Amino acid sequence: MVGYPPITKMNQDNSDKKILTVGIEGRPYDIVIGCGAISAAGALVGKLAGGDDVCVVSDENVWALHGAALEAALDSAGTRHSVFVIPPGEGSKNINQLAAIYNWLAEGGRLSRSGLILAFGGGVVGDIAGFAAATWMRGVRCVQIPSTLLAMVDSSVGGKTAIDTKHGKNLVGAFHQPSLVLIDPALLDTLPAREFGAGLAEVIKYGAIASESLFRDIEYAANAAAGKGGISDAIRRTLRIEDVIRDCCSIKAEIVSEDEFDTGLRAILNFGHTFGHAIESKYGFGKYNHGEAVAAGMGIAAGVGERLGVTERGTAERIYALLDGAGLGFREGAADLIPYMKSDKKALSGGVNLILLRRVGEAVIHKIDWDELEKLL
Ligand code: GLY
Repeated sequence: MVGYPPITKMNQDNSDKKILTVGIEGRPYDIVIGCGAISAAGALVGKLAGGDDVCVVSDENVWALHGAALEAALDSAGTRHSVFVIPPGEGSKNINQLAAIYNWLAEGGRLSRSGLILAFGGGVVGDIAGFAAATWMRGVRCVQIPSTLLAMVDSSVGGKTAIDTKHGKNLVGAFHQPSLVLIDPALLDTLPAREFGAGLAEVIKYGAIASESLFRDIEYAANAAAGKGGISDAIRRTLRIEDVIRDCCSIKAEIVSEDEFDTGLRAILNFGHTFGHAIESKYGFGKYNHGEAVAAGMGIAAGVGERLGVTERGTAERIYALLDGAGLGFREGAADLIPYMKSDKKALSGGVNLILLRRVGEAVIHKIDWDELEKLL
């Protein structure tokens, strides 16, 4: 079992400006967070592009809602750009859509090696546009402007890019760190409540693995939400969403800086995901969205941790109480998940690395073999 101390040295030196740095050696990059930050996109992206072309990839929904604001920002800074819009949803994250992006980049020499790709959307856009950037001419720079809570706190940071194949999600991909992540929480005003909840599951995950104070903040918001509207309103009333996003990004930045290529510490970001991915496979990505499956998976992982004696007693109850309060209280049986876990790309021969909690705010990696897990479930 590998244990890690709680994340203590959060990267908050610049917290009032809300600029965090992902300290990848030799290639550090900024995460700029602020309501209305999209209006700064022209200047920030233009500075990076330095006169070269900016190729924006977005999806139909995001572009219809927020495309005009991004274009106005790019135009006002005189940043030369063109736009490719894909259909929304996971179904677009495939080789055909990627080929369409490559063809568009090639038309009339639209994107040279010195230009950059700007991914403007949720996780699907970030993943496919990021993968196009990782592979176009063996790699061009990429800027991520996430539009969903899930993408703001997780997928836009850390450089994981991928497409799906019929054999599985994210089976083909690359690590390709962005040059800049620009987060404008005002974009969340148009996010459907269910999508907000999916991002909130990842927020709760960060609290569970690395920050009891973040976990407590969300408990506080969930209590405030009881009987008074949704959790998203309560977070706006009782906390500041940009602070919540900053806390999550601080944790992710610190973990990614230490383990860019996911060979150790970074695995703790998968708390709830091992069971969550199995739940997604079991239901064919239909019943639950990713965040909801991860929420169900976090509850299972906390219970398994207690049964193994790794997790402090009472932790599972606390996790379930918060998930219930956040509208994410899904209960899934775990006994039939093992076959799905065995075909996950993170399975080991003979078993799996489970991400468990010692307590709220501290995660451990616990290798377990299939027989033992089967008995526990
Ligand atoms: N989403 C998990 C990671 O970035 O490693």
